[in-house]
Order: sequence, then C-alpha cells, then structure tokens
Amino acid sequence: MDNPTVIKLINPETQLAFDLPMLSGTLGPDVIDIRALYQQTGLFTYDPGFTSTASCSSAITYIDGEAGILLYRGYPIEQLAEKCDFLEVCYLLMHADLPNAKELKNLIKSTTEHSMVHDQLTNFYKGFRRDAHPMAIMVGVVGALSAFYHDAIDIKRPDHRYICAIRLIAKMPTIVAMCYKYSIGMPFMYPQNKLGYVENFMYMLLGSPCETYQPNPVLVRALDRILILHADHEQNASTSTVRLAGSSGANPYACVTAGIACLWGAAHGGANEAVLKMLEEIGDVTQIGHYIARAKDKNDPFRLMGFGHRVYKNYDPRAKLMRETCHEVLTELGLHDDRLFKLAMELERIALEDDYFITKRLYPNVDFYSGIVLRALGIPSTMFTAIFAMARSIGWIAQWDEMIADPEQKIGRPRQLYTGPIQRDVTPIATRS
Ligand code: SDX
Repeated sequence: MDNPTVIKLINPETQLAFDLPMLSGTLGPDVIDIRALYQQTGLFTYDPGFTSTASCSSAITYIDGEAGILLYRGYPIEQLAEKCDFLEVCYLLMHADLPNAKELKNLIKSTTEHSMVHDQLTNFYKGFRRDAHPMAIMVGVVGALSAFYHDAIDIKRPDHRYICAIRLIAKMPTIVAMCYKYSIGMPFMYPQNKLGYVENFMYMLLGSPCETYQPNPVLVRALDRILILHADHEQNASTSTVRLAGSSGANPYACVTAGIACLWGAAHGGANEAVLKMLEEIGDVTQIGHYIARAKDKNDPFRLMGFGHRVYKNYDPRAKLMRETCHEVLTELGLHDDRLFKLAMELERIALEDDYFITKRLYPNVDFYSGIVLRALGIPSTMFTAIFAMARSIGWIAQWDEMIADPEQKIGRPRQLYTGPIQRDVTPIATRS
C-alpha cells in the first residue's frame, strides 16, 4: 500500500514546506497520509461529514460512486445477488472469500445452533410500550446482548471475535421478529432448526403458533437478495459509528447497538420507511410535480426520500437490483398493478428527467424500492429499518473485526476547528447582568 509519491504542502505564512506521503490501495483514489500533519505543521485538516476523508484502510467493500460499482471482497453485487445466498455473503464478508460447500454447511450449522436468545432477554421487550418503534426496541435488546456475553469476550482473540459474529448473525432474525410480534401483541415464535435462515426469519415474523406457516419460496429468495444488497457498504455512517465505538475496546454488541442507533436516522437507514410515508403522502401521479417542486425548493425541508447518495453520483447498483426484485415479488403476488410501485416508477422517471436532479446527480438509492418490496411481503413499514439492521449486522461486525485486527488501529479521536469564546474569567454571580 505504500507509495514513494509525496504531496508538498507549503505554509503560506512561514513558507515552510512539508512532504506528505501518498498511499495507494488496490482500487479507488490514492490518499494523502496526514497522520503526521499536526505534529509537523501545527495544522488540522477540516472535513465535516468526511466528504474527502478516508478514516481507515479496509479490504471488505469497494464502491465506485461514479461508475455505480459495488464489490464485496472483489465480487460484484450483481453476481452475488444472483448466484449466492445471504449466508454465503456473510461468510465472504467475514472470511474474505466465498465458502466451499463444507464451509457453508458449517456456517449454517453454527448460525442454526445460536438462533435462540437467552430466555431472560424476552423480559427486555416487556419494558417497552407496544407502540414503541421497533428500532427503539432493537437498541435496547441488542444492547442487552452485551450483558449476556460480556465475560466470554476477549476481543484480541480471533476465536472470541468469531463467536460474537456468529451469535449476532444468528440472533438478529430472532430479535427482529420478536420486535414485530411484541408490537402486535402476538406470542414470540421460536426459531425452527429445520428451516433455512431467511425462511426461519419469515416464519418467526409472519407465522403463528395456531397454524402451519410455509413461506413462499419466491418471496424467501427475494428477501434473501434484499439482505445481500444491504449487507455492507464501506464506511457509511452506521459502520463508521461501529468502528469508532469499537476503537475504544467496547463490547462488540454495544458497538453494534451504536450502529443501530445511527442507522435509524431518516438520512440513512430510516429512509426506506420514509420513502413509503412519502409515497403515501404524494398519493397520486398527479401530485408528483408538486412534490418534485418542493424537493427543489431551498426553503422547503422536504427531500425526495430514497434519492441521492454521498458516494453514488450515478445509479446505485442496488437500486436497479431492488427494482427488479420489486417487480418479481409484485408479479408473484399478482400485485403488478400495485399503486405505490407504479407511483414510485413514475416519480423516478420524472425526477430523472428533471434538470435539478440531473445536475445534482441525484439518483434512486437502495432505499427507494426496498420499502415497496417489504410492504408487498406483508412487512409493516415500521419494521423496514430493523430489517436493514438485521442485514447490515454482518457488515458492521466484519468491519469491527477488521478494525480490531488492524495493527494500525488506534482509538478514534477527531479534533475540531474551535469557534467559541477565547479564555475569560468567571465573575461573581452578583455582578453578572
Ligand atoms: C443510505 O452512505 C451510505 O453508504 C448509506 C447507505 C448504506 O448502504 O449504508 O447507502 C444507505 O443511507 C442511503 C441514503 C438514504 N437516504 C435518503 O434517501 C434520504 C434522502 N437523501 C438525502 O438526504 C441525501 O441525498 C443523502 C443524505 C443521502 C446524501 O447527502 P449528502 O451527500 O450530504 O448530500 P447533500 O445533502 O450535501 O446534498 C447535495 C445537494 C444539496 O443541494 P445544495 O445544498 O447543493 O443546493 O443535493 C440536494 C441537497 O439539498 N439533495 C436533495 C436530495 N439529496 C440531496 N434534494 C432533494 N431530495 C434529495 N433526496
């Protein structure tokens, strides 16, 4: 990764020149190594939102925002979505290559054996109101996992980190399904070891103890693909949150909980739920022009949810795959005339022809169609981000593992551009105006 090229930095006040080394990865932009900048120059860099900052080196996911490319460990997302299932992708993200048949069988066995949660964990749900947002419950319950396994974790041991990953992947579907059952006053459904990963999740989410539930295999495959599309995405806000929390050596379940909290925001993983609310609010194709105008109005806080991305300045490859999945699911369910899907496609068509969206390079992102698919699968919109969190858990824990194993890893501690008062003295309260 080292590169002899340097960038010369000349301080205009002192005319002193500093050499900053350039580093190259295997793909993507080179970086300027500024680790010694403050020590050499007394200067900080300034980059709120980290629009031009690489916070780490990573070998897990590569995104080319201009070309609309997304690779997990070098494999294109289009091929993974078509040729693999979610557990294969989990293995890939954790182990840097796709599993062979024996390795996949072992992963299936491990995740099956760890899919139950400690029965006392069910008590945490009872502390919430039935109408609590599932993401609020997720923050509480996943955080509580750190109370059940804190003694079995020496994060410097790869085998301990691995069992953390297995427990998280295995238990997230159970926890997410329990969030939904709790919110509708239905009994929890326990995982069935004879069912596949996604089949088991749909059984726990949509099944009932009173009757046999056999998920439609087309819908199972569609949800499996949705999980693949959401599994990891480089140093997005929630992954960066998990890395920053983990850099202090915190319990990995607590770090993932921090990621869940961050993902909940409407600018991030909460967008899929917001898209559905937006489509319901638009209501009809005749209203699209009005809402496009609002999205363009600087004085109107309304944004076209599911549009735009910090990195993709071209089409989000996941959005294309999600639209195909949407069409497949709606056709399978005889809903190809689904009102919201037709509204979404018309909204996309009109937006992509509008100069504002063209010049600002705003395209549909992964969240634009995911809500319509999940709704068609019978999943309520309040659960959408919880399902995103279930999928992203593998990305979070794989990135956390990579960070803990990184010899260059240090506690994350950004600096600031201070704009507050210069030093002053405290005055007695009697003299204060
Ligand atoms: C995810 O980072 C990841 O990888 C995230 C994610 C992942 O897998 O982890 O891909 C998942 O979070 C997808 C994004 C979901 N969020 C939304 O769909 C919410 C709507 N989108 C936006 O809020 C926005 O596009 C962001 C948050 C996604 C990106 O914001 P940026 O990169 O900070 O861009 P910006 O806010 O600076 O916008 C640039 C310009 C602005 O106009 P100007 O100030 O330059 O005049 O584009 C405008 C914005 O006003 N703009 C929009 C818009 N998004 C940006 N205008 C209308 N509608 C929008 N959706």
